[in-house]
Order: sequence, then C-alpha cells, then structure tokens
Amino acid sequence: MGYKILCFGIFCVIFAYYIYTPIPENIEECWRVRMIDAVVKTTSLVGTLFEEIGLMKYEDTFLTLSSLHLSKPVSDENVTVIDTNFSDIPVRLYLPKKKSEILRPAIIYLHGGAFVFGSCKMQPYDDLNRWTANKLDAVVVGIDYRLAPQYPFPAALEDSVLVVKFILQDKILDKYGVDPACICISGDSSGATLAAAATQLVCCVSLEV
Ligand SMILES: *[C@@H]1O[C@H](CO)[C@@H](O)[C@H](O)[C@H]1NC(C)=O
Ligand SMILES: *[C@@H]1O[C@H](CO)[C@@H](O)[C@H](O)[C@H]1NC(C)=O
Repeated sequence: MGYKILCFGIFCVIFAYYIYTPIPENIEECWRVRMIDAVVKTTSLVGTLFEEIGLMKYEDTFLTLSSLHLSKPVSDENVTVIDTNFSDIPVRLYLPKKKSEILRPAIIYLHGGAFVFGSCKMQPYDDLNRWTANKLDAVVVGIDYRLAPQYPFPAALEDSVLVVKFILQDKILDKYGVDPACICISGDSSGATLAAAATQLVCCVSLEV
C-alpha cells in the first residue's frame, strides 16, 4: 500500500513538473491561464499517446474534447440565440431582444482551435458571444467554418469571407437591424488570423467595386 502511494506521489510530482510553465505574475487571472495551459498540455500528451498506440489521430483527441463542450442555442431574457446557415455555412446568431431606435453594431466572431478543432457552439464561445451581445447591444454572429485536415486551407477562409459577404447584403442588414458602418470582424488564435485575412479580402473586394 505504502509503495503504491509513493509511486502515485512521484507520478504526480513528475506530471506537475511536466505541465508547469512559468507565467508572468503581472497578468490578470494568472491561475486561469495556468489552468488552460495545463489542460492543453495534458490533452496534447494524451493525443500523442493515443496516436502512438494507433487509437486515434492527434487532432481527433482535441476534436473529441472540444465536442464535449458543445452547447445548445438557448435564448435568455436579453438575447435570442439561433442556429442557422448563412450561405450554407453554419452560424450561431445572438440577437438582442430589446427594441432599439437606432441600427445596431454587428460583431462577427471566429473561434480559435489551430484550424483543426473548435466550434462557435462550444460553451466558452457561447458565453463570450452572449456576453458581447449583451454588453455592446450588438448582433453577434459566430461562424462554424470548415476545419482542416478534412477541409484543407483555404476552406476556412472561404467560409469566413462568404459569411461576411452574406451579412453585408442590404436585405440581411435590414432584417437584423445592423448598421453597415459598424461591423467588426474578430476572433482568437486561428480565428484571429481568419478575421484579419477575411477583413483584407472583403475590403479589397469593396475597393474594386
Ligand atoms: C440581462 O441584462 C440585465 C441588464 O443588463 C443583466 O442584469 C442580466 O444579468 C442579463 N441577463 C442575462 C441572463 O445575462
Ligand atoms: C445547415 O446546413 C447543413 C449542411 O451544410 C445542414 O445539415 C443543416 O441542417 C442546416 N441547418 C439549418 C438550420 O438550416
């Protein structure tokens, strides 16, 4: 019994050492960054092990983990949440319920996930997009662009651009009461790359017109 506890203790210490990363103390919510880093590192380790023993591909481990966090489109007292398609691409809409005298801003959000996993329907993104809709009284659109390696580059970028162009149509701006002069494209990680690229492509196209 004592021997087992000792082995378990040593394992914990080695594992803690493995997942430890020095993080600057002066950033906000240091413990949260540390926790996310530990989860990603542990998933990466499990992914490597699973791939080595031929159980599943490395990226599928991340895909499986992210699919555990998917949420349903649940409306609340302030925001109507709808899953639909824009140009055949799945999107999740957050529409503020309160009547507005003026046109609303729109925030288009592209989730991260190294281009291979993640979804705007994951709980943390659902929380973030809902919060943004509430806080800014804005229409928020989360995009589920196609993921690699099943759909290699530039599928994700094509989807992002298609959705942005879909939203920029007069009838869609009218339908959701969006101010065309106040549309923001944003994202995190790989989603931020897509946001930057999509913004450039859409702006270049509109300059040519
Ligand atoms: C709805 O908005 C009110 C006022 O901004 C806020 O206090 C409340 O927490 C919001 N409800 C939800 C579910 O976010
Ligand atoms: C969106 O399109 C997908 C296929 O691309 C389809 O399976 C899904 O049912 C559509 N969803 C809605 C809400 O139309």
